[in-house]
Amino acid sequence: MHIETNIVHGGQHPDKLTGALSPPIYQTSTFAFRDADHGARLFKREEEGYIYTRYRNPTIDLLADKIALLESAEAGLVFASGLAAIFNVIVTLVKSGEHIVSDDTIYGGTFGLFKNIFPKLGIDVTFVDTVNRDKLTSVIRDNTKLVFIETPANPTLKIIDIAKCVEVAHSKNVDLCVDNTFLTPYLQKPIELGADIVVHSATKYFGGHGDIIGGIVVGGKIFMEELWKNAKDIGASNSPFNAWLVLRGLKTLAVRMDRHCENAEKIAEYLSKHNKIENVYYPGLFSHPGHEIAKKQMSKFGGMLGFDLKGGKEAGKILMNSVKLCILAVSLGDADTLIEHPASMTHSTYSDEELLQRGIKPGFVRISVGLENVNDLIEDLEQALNVI
Ligand SMILES: Cc1ncc(COP(=O)(O)O)c(C=O)c1O
Repeated sequence: MHIETNIVHGGQHPDKLTGALSPPIYQTSTFAFRDADHGARLFKREEEGYIYTRYRNPTIDLLADKIALLESAEAGLVFASGLAAIFNVIVTLVKSGEHIVSDDTIYGGTFGLFKNIFPKLGIDVTFVDTVNRDKLTSVIRDNTKLVFIETPANPTLKIIDIAKCVEVAHSKNVDLCVDNTFLTPYLQKPIELGADIVVHSATKYFGGHGDIIGGIVVGGKIFMEELWKNAKDIGASNSPFNAWLVLRGLKTLAVRMDRHCENAEKIAEYLSKHNKIENVYYPGLFSHPGHEIAKKQMSKFGGMLGFDLKGGKEAGKILMNSVKLCILAVSLGDADTLIEHPASMTHSTYSDEELLQRGIKPGFVRISVGLENVNDLIEDLEQALNVI
């Protein structure tokens, strides 16, 4: 089946008992055992079945299996948030005294987790620009367990060649984990390019309506089994209702992503010709340094973009305070267009120096392009740029 069809039907069937097309929400914390031996067998895993929602839940499983199918992975697991998903992946693969390599440009929350939390657990993290193959190769050590990348990277939209990272990581016996939040499997499939693990903030395009927080991991069966064992003890599970909302949002993923991409391409073109704008960061532009790699590994260029204003930070502030239709808010992937200032908001875990090293200038503004009519969005940006 084509991915659009799998997005709608994949893994889902009318409910056996009632014929309900929309999946039941098993809003329960616990599941009754037939008798004491049955309970004991389930805990020993001698028999398949549900025990307690922190362990597994049918509504949540449906979502996990669906994303695994869409990502061409063997198995999936749902978490309370994208960050909980990433935390669980790392502590499953890496122990105290070992090392991970992360690309230097990632979501600020993930950067905070890597910079502030993992060193306390004895896990060493090296940040490097993984676009540079030699640099990546040189920082991998004997005790390195994982290379972590986001592509396109949040917030600069830097493009990393996934297949090349796989080559380097695997040549050193190290796994590659890709955060695919910005694109979803509709636009990019890292597992098919050789990545071992894919993580998502389901809060974003999967949910698509800005009403839940969630995370998802997909990967090979053996790793996912280890991840599940840890996750049930760490306790970062999500709720059946949230999983249902993501399943509901997913039905329209393909058409939403098409519109996000179409609108973002037009806004990027518009901004790149505006005399108050210095640079536009959008992988669909020919001028983007990662354009050719983006064309190779992505089917479209996504709904996220960034730009620097000639007037720097002050001009950015005026712009963000002047928009009327775009919403000044963090998060992304919603129906509503969201505008924000990474340096003081989503990426405030980076120091000023760290931001500049990554090419994130003080006036850099990020937009998550929504599903509105693009002409209305351009008109809004135009009137706000006129205020500067
Ligand atoms: C690329 C990316 N990964 C992970 C996360 C973390 O996800 P969550 O907010 O669901 O924990 C975010 C959040 O913005 C993100 O943008």
